[in-house]
Amino acid sequence: MSSNDSVHGMWSSRFMFILAAAGSAVGLGNIWRFPYVAGENGGGAFVLVYLVCIFLIGIPILTSEIFLGRAGRKSPINTMQGLVEHSGANKAWNVIGWMGALAGFMILSFYAVIAGWAMSYMFSSASGVFVDIDGAGASSVFNDFVGDPAQVLTWHGIFMLITIYIVGRGVANGLEQAVKYLMPALFLLLLLLVGYSANTSHFSEGVSFLFSFNVEKLTWNGVLIAMGQAFFTLSLGMGAIMSYGAYMPKDSSIVGSATIIALIDTSVALLAGIAIFPLVFANGLEISSGPGLMFVTLPLAFGQMSGGVIFGTMFFLLVTFAAITSAISLIEPALAWLVEHLHVSRLRGAILVGGVAWFVGLGSAFSTNIWSDVMVLPGMDFFTSMDYVSNNIMLPLGGMLIALFSGWAVDKSVSQDQLQLSPGQFAIWEILVRFIAPLAVGTVFVMTFI
Ligand code: TRP
Repeated sequence: MSSNDSVHGMWSSRFMFILAAAGSAVGLGNIWRFPYVAGENGGGAFVLVYLVCIFLIGIPILTSEIFLGRAGRKSPINTMQGLVEHSGANKAWNVIGWMGALAGFMILSFYAVIAGWAMSYMFSSASGVFVDIDGAGASSVFNDFVGDPAQVLTWHGIFMLITIYIVGRGVANGLEQAVKYLMPALFLLLLLLVGYSANTSHFSEGVSFLFSFNVEKLTWNGVLIAMGQAFFTLSLGMGAIMSYGAYMPKDSSIVGSATIIALIDTSVALLAGIAIFPLVFANGLEISSGPGLMFVTLPLAFGQMSGGVIFGTMFFLLVTFAAITSAISLIEPALAWLVEHLHVSRLRGAILVGGVAWFVGLGSAFSTNIWSDVMVLPGMDFFTSMDYVSNNIMLPLGGMLIALFSGWAVDKSVSQDQLQLSPGQFAIWEILVRFIAPLAVGTVFVMTFI
C-alpha cells in the first residue's frame, strides 16, 4: 500500500497525532459518562472490568485502527476497501467502514445534546446560579433545564454549528494548537476538584466505591456496559482513530502512541470519578441517578468553594472544548468519505453530516422533556436507546471485526511494515487481536444476550 500523504492533510508530527487522538478520546465519555455508568453499575467491580478492557482489548485494537488507517491513508470506508483488495480478502470486511460511519452519526447525535448541556452550564456558572446551592437545589436546576425543550434545543444547535464550523475549516491548523493548552488546563481543573473532594468528609467512601472490587454486584449486562464504555472512551470501533491514523507521519511508533493515548484517557476518567463520588455521598445524592450525575454534583462543589464562579465557568468551558475535540472525530470518517466520493468541499460535507446528526439528535434532545415517555427499546427512551445500541453493540462489534481483520485478513507484510515490532512483540500483539480481543467481546455478547 502507498505510504504517501493523505489528500485530507497530515498531522505535522507524531506529537500532534497523539494530541489529536487524545483530544478525541478525552471527552464527555470520561467526565460525564464514566462516573454515571460506574455509579449505575455498582462501582468497583465495574471499574475493574473497564480497566481490563482498556488494556487487554482497547490498546491492541487502538493499535490496529491506527495502522490500518496509516496503511490506507483515506477515509475508513475507502481505506478498508483498499486494504481488502490489496490483501485479496472477502468483500464482506467492508462492513467495518460502513457500520463505523453509521455509529458515528448515532453517537454524534446524542453527544451534541449532552455537550449542549455543558455549554449551558458554563453560562449558569458564570451568572452565579450555583453559589451556595444545596443538593436539592442543584437537582432542581438540572431538572428544570433538561425539562425545557427550547433551552436544550438551542444549546444542542449551537454546539453542532461550532463543530461543523471547525471541521469545515480543516483540523490541521487551529485545533491541535488549542488542544495543546486546553487539555492540560482541563487536567489541572480536575485535580483542583479532586483536591476539593479530598477535603469533604466522604472522600474515602467515594474512593472505595470506585476501587473496592466486590464482584457480587456485577451482572453480565454490567460487564457489557463496562466494555462498551472502554470502546466509547477510547473512540474505538467506528473508524475515528482509523481516520486520524490516516494523517499520521510514516515513521512513528504506533504501539507507543496507542499506549500513551490510553493512559491519558484513563487517568482523566479516574480523576473525574474521584472528584465526583465523594460529593455524591457527602450530599446525600443518588449514585445511580444517571446522565444528570455530573451536572448535579459538580455545581455543588463549585457553589461552595471560593472562586467557584470562575472555576465552574472555566471547567464547563473546558468540558465543552473536550467535547468539541471529540465531536470532530465523530464527523471525520463520514466527512472524509464524502470529500473523496462526491468531491464536495469540507465545509459542505460537514454541513451535511452535521445536519443529519443534528436532526437525529432531536430525538435525544426531547428525551428529557416532551418525549420522556416515548420508549424505543424496552424501558429505554430515545437517548438511552441510541446510546445503548451504538456503545454497547456497534462499537464492540466494530472493534471485534477490526481486530479480526487486522490479525487474520490483512497481508502480514502490511501489519509488520506498519508496526515495526520485534518478532516477540509482534507475536503478542497478534495473539491479542486474533484471539483474546475477539473472544472477549464474543463472550460478553453471548453471556448478555443469550
Ligand atoms: N471518546 C470520546 C469521549 O470519551 C467520544 C468519541 C469521540 C467517540 N470519537 C468517538 C466514541 C468515536 C466512539 C467512537 O467522549
